[in-house]
Amino acid sequence: MATRNIVKIGDPILRKTSREVKVFDKRLHVLLDDMLETMRKADGVGLAAPQVGILKRVVVIEIGDLLLEMVNPVIVSQEGEQTGAEGCLSVPMQQGEVTRPMKVKVEYQDRNGDGYELEGEELLARAICHELDHLDGHLYTDIATRTWAYDPSGNEDRK
Ligand code: CO
Repeated sequence: MATRNIVKIGDPILRKTSREVKVFDKRLHVLLDDMLETMRKADGVGLAAPQVGILKRVVVIEIGDLLLEMVNPVIVSQEGEQTGAEGCLSVPMQQGEVTRPMKVKVEYQDRNGDGYELEGEELLARAICHELDHLDGHLYTDIATRTWAYDPSGNEDRK
């Protein structure tokens, strides 16, 4: 595994539409492994492939003990509403207030191409919506009702 550079806001790659994954090979597995390591190193709860410069419909999410590797994810239904703070590894030192569904149902494939369906609520629903938006070139800043400066560590020396 290796960490990859996280693309930051302003880079046009973040605005492109990612392609569906059709080949579930070693290359995809390496991408997923690298994305997980990159996300963990950056203390994120989610990362989408375009954020490491790869325009494939691939995201990783880790919330507590739940680790999700989602390939070709699609939100098939959503319910309710939640408004809260959101951040993005591609938008450093900032958070914003974003309204998302309270609950979503998502269909996706795993790294081997097997299909799954999952229901997520609250933070998981927010993370799924946020990461899937990246696959279509959308950032939370596009829909945030307000944004503010935020330092996740409170430490100026954070790498
Ligand atoms: Co993001």
